[in-house]
Amino acid sequence: MHKNQGPVYYNDYLMLDKFLSCQEPLSKKFATKEDPEAHDETLFIVVHQAYELWFKQILHDLDAVLTTFKKPTVEDSDFSYIIQRLDRIRKIQGVFNSHFEILETMTPMDFLEFRNLLIPASGFQSTQFREIEIKLGLNTVDRQGVDREFFLGRLNEKDRARLSALENTPSLLRLLEKWLERTPFTNKENFNFWTEYQNSIQKILSDDEATIQANVAHLSDKDKAMQLENLRITKETFANLFNEEAHNKIVAEGARKLSQKAILNALFIMLYRDEPMLTMPHQMMTIMMDIDENFTTWRYRHALLAQRMLGTKIGTGGSSGHTYLKKAADNNRVFVDLFNLSTYLIPRSRLPKIPAEIKKQLNFNSTPTA
Ligand code: HEM
Repeated sequence: MHKNQGPVYYNDYLMLDKFLSCQEPLSKKFATKEDPEAHDETLFIVVHQAYELWFKQILHDLDAVLTTFKKPTVEDSDFSYIIQRLDRIRKIQGVFNSHFEILETMTPMDFLEFRNLLIPASGFQSTQFREIEIKLGLNTVDRQGVDREFFLGRLNEKDRARLSALENTPSLLRLLEKWLERTPFTNKENFNFWTEYQNSIQKILSDDEATIQANVAHLSDKDKAMQLENLRITKETFANLFNEEAHNKIVAEGARKLSQKAILNALFIMLYRDEPMLTMPHQMMTIMMDIDENFTTWRYRHALLAQRMLGTKIGTGGSSGHTYLKKAADNNRVFVDLFNLSTYLIPRSRLPKIPAEIKKQLNFNSTPTA
């Protein structure tokens, strides 16, 4: 524990003189008798600064997670550390997603009082937001068309160079992928889990087909054809999971991000989440999904805010405004593959039984001593 070096004064410790003198409305600086200070510009600055402070804390925790997750072997104790920090990020997001409500007490007319003074500054230049995106796993190549140019294109040279370099360091998504690829258990001597799983799927799909055929008499030709077509698509979706070539094609098209091996092992964790050794990895993946979902909520919320303030006007950074932001919300997902794993879940009663020897490895094996 650190030793106290002398009396500490609250204002000094928090550097409040400095901190509270960082809210300088431009409309105050350029105020005239006809055009006085815009009262709500202070709120605009304070809300943005509050976000940037939270972004700072998120990066502080995310960096700690990345350092731990980079280790060649992630120990059990590392998992609780990673989970604790990711959980904190999730909670921060819960708080800051409601900051928009406060900003919306400013009316669009009040915003117009100072908006022109901001051009060409824009949220595009929030380097902390970009850093979070990159560290989670969203890079320039993941963007769509015009969005790609906007990603780092509105930054000054120094910031662009720093963030471009960051794109070449391992993100949370890539570290998760590498860790999943190393996960054992699914392919042991005397037990190939995936053969067993595919047998279960075959059985489920045959049962489904039998149900459709049995109900044929009650279905119109159109409905029957539709149900059989849906079944064909489901079979193809399952088959693609085990076809590495087809999988790699989907990754190249940008519809999936993780390698086939990583996705299969993530699925194993989801299916057997109740086994003690898989509980923490499952919890970790769940929080990663929550973080992804919370950022998507933030993006939609922010897109609505932009529409409320600007209508169909373009943004100060030159994008199409609300239309651009809504598209970015749809597209800019990190852990989308984890969400889509639900496609391949099957009822517990149909899960292949794990051999006793492997089940033992998935338990903590704490046998009573007395
Ligand atoms: C009156 C309130 C706001 C309006 C009208 C608004 C509008 C916009 C618009 C139109 C864009 C697209 C880029 C452009 O053309 O400028 C944008 C981007 C952005 N804004 Fe805001 N914004 C507001 C508040 C905020 C707040 C409070 C934050 C908090 C940090 C924020 C963070 C961002 C970020 C990070 C981007 C980049 C998003 C991306 O590229 O995916 N904005 N904003």
